[in-house]
Amino acid sequence: MNINEAQRVITDAVGRMGPGALSEEALVQHIHPLFSRVLARNEKSSEIYLANHSLGRPMDMVSDLVQGALDGWYEQLDGVWNAWLDARDRYRAEIAAMLCWPDERAVVPKTSAAQGLRAVLNAVPVQMPSIVSTECEFDSIDFVLKAYHDKERAFVRWVKPDKNGLMQPETIIKAISSNTDVVVLSAVCFATGQVVQSLKEIIDEAHEKGAIVVLDAYHAFGVLPLDFAALGADFIIGGNYKYTRGGAGACYLAVHPRHLDSSGGQSAPDSISPIDTGWFAKREPFSYKRSGNSLFAPGGDAWLEATPPVLTYYQALPGLMLTNTIGVDRLRAYSRTQQKLLADQLEANGVTPLLLKNRGAYILIEHHDGREAVNRLKASGINADARPLPGTDRWVVRLCPDLLNTNAELEESARRIAKALA
Ligand SMILES: Cc1ncc(COP(=O)(O)O)c(C=O)c1O
Repeated sequence: MNINEAQRVITDAVGRMGPGALSEEALVQHIHPLFSRVLARNEKSSEIYLANHSLGRPMDMVSDLVQGALDGWYEQLDGVWNAWLDARDRYRAEIAAMLCWPDERAVVPKTSAAQGLRAVLNAVPVQMPSIVSTECEFDSIDFVLKAYHDKERAFVRWVKPDKNGLMQPETIIKAISSNTDVVVLSAVCFATGQVVQSLKEIIDEAHEKGAIVVLDAYHAFGVLPLDFAALGADFIIGGNYKYTRGGAGACYLAVHPRHLDSSGGQSAPDSISPIDTGWFAKREPFSYKRSGNSLFAPGGDAWLEATPPVLTYYQALPGLMLTNTIGVDRLRAYSRTQQKLLADQLEANGVTPLLLKNRGAYILIEHHDGREAVNRLKASGINADARPLPGTDRWVVRLCPDLLNTNAELEESARRIAKALA
């Protein structure tokens, strides 16, 4: 199968659902057949999967597309490069469409969000940048920043959540000063699913104080119909293994056009320009020309690195295409309906979920010991996870339905969860 055939199958299936709000009946009839392999687990096991916020479930065509990319290698040898690079550019275009990013070449494939963050930190033309970040960032981002801080490659100031483990925008705004060079924060906090409010105000404040903003969009990407470009962040980092069902290694760095040099060439010493680089970032990489200095490709291609891993594009494209074809706004509306159903059913079974007013794709249940809660849930056939509630000694269990969970499954989940956590 090739990418165009995959898109045709997706377009047909989504088209058969008709326009407007998604319904369980239409999803089961038209979309579930595209997931027959992963849904076959339901025949063999009574487990209910509610960890869709962690590792998204793959479409059948993932393995067909990856197989197609490998077949091309066997059949065409080095002639396959054009197809592989077309897949890379389609990957960039699908991500740009989801972010509402104005320039698809300003989306740079990365193998992790951390790799995107390091590329930005290493590009900032300051010896020891002063960074403002929060205690609610995901471990990978937190760890990179701590490593830079400990090696005196950056000075990091950490903003604390409130006593309920939530980030308050005014505390972030207050922490940004005229000494700040970089602000690193999540659009949606990973532990709680809290949608951080006033992102535009935080970003505007950072710009006013002369700082740039790296926004971690991981838990917003494919979840919230946000116009990321309109928010004005300088860089977006994120990836595909959650809501866009793209598996591991398929991440990205989106560079705001204000940091792109459309003519390319050698970047000014005081500009934000990449040093995490390689020959794919060169001007005319396949000309094999050498010059005395580093001449970059124009635009976002200057942020590419060395020879990329290509199979991840094929692995991630089906989920990206499905999400874009259905539309994040329709998926969001359906997710809210599912979250409400699950929450109501939990209440009916005597469990009070923690429902944040501004939340992403999942609901929470507080627990004193997350590991114990998850073990009990696993034993009762519920696949979910738990994270420490930042700044507290409590935990939250995270429960994320998605379009493959039926209403009957959600009702059954609530009964099992109530029994397991009683
Ligand atoms: C908010 C957030 N950022 C980043 C990541 C992943 O980071 P990385 O790609 O560096 O492993 C996750 C994974 O759960 C996350 O939740």
